[in-house]
Amino acid sequence: MNPMNTPQPGGILIEGLRKVYGHGDTAVEALKHVNMQVSPGEVVGLVGPSGSGKSTLLKCLGAIIEPTSGRMTLGKDVIYDNGWKVKDLRALRRDRIGFVFQAPYLIPFLDVTDNVALLPMLAGVPNAKARERALELLTALDVSHRARAEPSQLSGGEQQRVSIARALANKPPVILADEPTAPLDSERALGVMRILNQMAQHAQTAIIVVTHDEKIIPTFKRIYHIRDGQTVEEAGEGLSL
Ligand SMILES: Nc1ncnc2c1ncn2[C@@H]1O[C@H](COP(=O)(O)OP(=O)(O)OP(=O)(O)O)[C@@H](O)[C@H]1O
Ligand SMILES: [Mg+2]
Repeated sequence: MNPMNTPQPGGILIEGLRKVYGHGDTAVEALKHVNMQVSPGEVVGLVGPSGSGKSTLLKCLGAIIEPTSGRMTLGKDVIYDNGWKVKDLRALRRDRIGFVFQAPYLIPFLDVTDNVALLPMLAGVPNAKARERALELLTALDVSHRARAEPSQLSGGEQQRVSIARALANKPPVILADEPTAPLDSERALGVMRILNQMAQHAQTAIIVVTHDEKIIPTFKRIYHIRDGQTVEEAGEGLSL
């Protein structure tokens, strides 16, 4: 059996990760030597100045771009070791990683419910069951009243909450969120962090949240600071939500 087809819980381990964009005079070393570890069930913050490599790190881990060298492990599987160790990167992204981007990237011609239900349907969940789960998530994210609307009819914050529901829909073992609370007010930003923490605990998901958002930084028990392409770990307050 191909283990990539079976979402399984597991943490994240990044060792000596390096990413250089471009070549020669115009090369940019976005990540120099990044080490990071996230246990199943943990929500970790990733902070650092603009241009410090936060999005680059998430894109490498999410198999959207290829690192230059180093090693990345998800659960039991080494996915990258100075080259990809997984043949089907698309299946890796679909089955094992939930993304929340800064921009929601919803599909404009599907309504809110189907935007959330689409990935589980593609993974073989019966349509009615996928929609039922979508509605549960939309309710938890306080946007179920817009379930039949199209994305263009939603506010920025509503769109972002739908995109978070979408990332959670397949119950992926890993969630990568890049500034997920930027467009949200305080109460909703904390609500999103509460849901991510519940998800982490109940489903043993390993979650990385890139953020500048002062409202949510106190919620992390552990924070990685990235500076000059390297990470330094720090204990956070771990505010109970
Ligand atoms: N496709 C690319 N080609 C060349 N350089 C890039 C590319 N993407 C990012 N970079 C560079 O890599 C460095 C890290 O960028 P990255 O987007 O990871 O930063 P960031 O920490 O996410 O910043 P921000 O907080 O502004 O989102 C920056 O110097 C950026 O200009
Ligand atoms: Mg970024």
